Amino acid sequence: MDKFIIHGGKKLKGTVQVSGAKNASLALMPAALLNSGRNKLYNTPELNDVYTMLKLLSQMGVKFSFSNHILELNTTEINSFEAPYEHVKKMRASIYVLGPLVARYGYAKVSMPGGCAWGPRPVNLHLMAMEKLGAEITFEQGYIIASANKLKGNYINFDIPSVGATGNTLMAAVLAKGNTIINNAACEPEITNLCNFLIKMGAKIEGVGTSIIEVEGVDELHPADIETIPDRIEAGTLLIAGAITRSNIKVIGGITNHLHSILSKLEDSGCKLFYNKESIEINSENIEIKPIDVTTAVFPGFPTDMQAQWMAYMSLAVGTSNVTDTIYKDRFNHVPELVRLGVDIVMNENTARIVGVEKLKGAKVMSTDLRASASLVLAGLAAEGVTEVLRVYHIDRGYQRIEEKLKELGADIERVEGSEY
Ligand code: EPU
Repeated sequence: MDKFIIHGGKKLKGTVQVSGAKNASLALMPAALLNSGRNKLYNTPELNDVYTMLKLLSQMGVKFSFSNHILELNTTEINSFEAPYEHVKKMRASIYVLGPLVARYGYAKVSMPGGCAWGPRPVNLHLMAMEKLGAEITFEQGYIIASANKLKGNYINFDIPSVGATGNTLMAAVLAKGNTIINNAACEPEITNLCNFLIKMGAKIEGVGTSIIEVEGVDELHPADIETIPDRIEAGTLLIAGAITRSNIKVIGGITNHLHSILSKLEDSGCKLFYNKESIEINSENIEIKPIDVTTAVFPGFPTDMQAQWMAYMSLAVGTSNVTDTIYKDRFNHVPELVRLGVDIVMNENTARIVGVEKLKGAKVMSTDLRASASLVLAGLAAEGVTEVLRVYHIDRGYQRIEEKLKELGADIERVEGSEY
């Protein structure tokens, strides 16, 4: 297992490019199962989760080529409709194959995702929607089995907006007979990206980007090409790297409309931001970081995927801030590790109360999940002395060689391969 060694306290400078969005790619890739032929997914990030999805799709018969961030998926010969435990246990997003397989092939066998590193993450909404569309769902030895002759459009209401359930329902409804309305749909940009890909394939979808999406099913879809949106969470993480090290950096390629909740919180904390369509410049040189509370919410609210990174940043604020996660109430595995770096945090249910300290001090810390590891890297960049972040395979799931991007900005960070646990 690799680890990062960070000599903290260095100012960052220069520009850095945002890669394609992990959570968009993980929906776009299985969507290709809905047609037969060659699909091109531009700006696909080179991430471990993308490789896991590729393994899963290849094992179903999808042929692919992947270079220069262009992923070509050839879906002409699909011969297996199963997502085995070995892939699903690594990556819950494997459940995205359920909708397209049952819609196009009338059958899917998908391993039930278990708990995740920070607690329960149910899939009841995915299954409810498949049943509403006419699929029969049974369970066998830890697998979800969905079958249907032909799905039928229906009215689907989500009690809470779920990104994954909205994506899966869309991928099923586009080939169902008749109309489907998804009420309280997720409005995340990754879902809009998916809708646009489906529309390019010939799907009929209204209300894209809103919480009421209407789908008129079609008989078949054709292959299409799509540009993956930039990763708003990577962009946010890099901006915090600038903010936490009191630096002046420019992040290129993010979409500001996807980032307003993060940008405004950064501004509230005292950073100066200059942005246009191409780039976002952040300057936190010589600022006193103000304590700013955040409460996570669905898009366009503050993303749960930025909660851990925000906590790292707030650890150096002058004063006390509260960070509340309403989406995943247990997503706080990073707390004891941040404490090892000198962060002063007290938990009260799903709220972390962070009392800012003057300095963080380097230590050995352990990654426990993707965004937790990002927060440890950020804290390590600002900490005095040496921080070792162990088990960075977590960060490799969702950030494309983050240490190289940070090095480009002048950070002193090294990957040590095959090191201790
Ligand atoms: N939920 C249910 N039942 C369901 C599905 C979801 O109760 O059937 C609940 C969840 O427990 C959670 C809320 O609904 O409280 C929202 O979960 P959602 O379904 O939106 O999450 P997801 O689709 O499983 C995606 C991202 C996550 C991100 C969340 C929230 C992908 C592949 N994953 O997960 O990304 O945190 O949306 O924005 O798109 C990450 O990148 O680090 C990550 C975890």
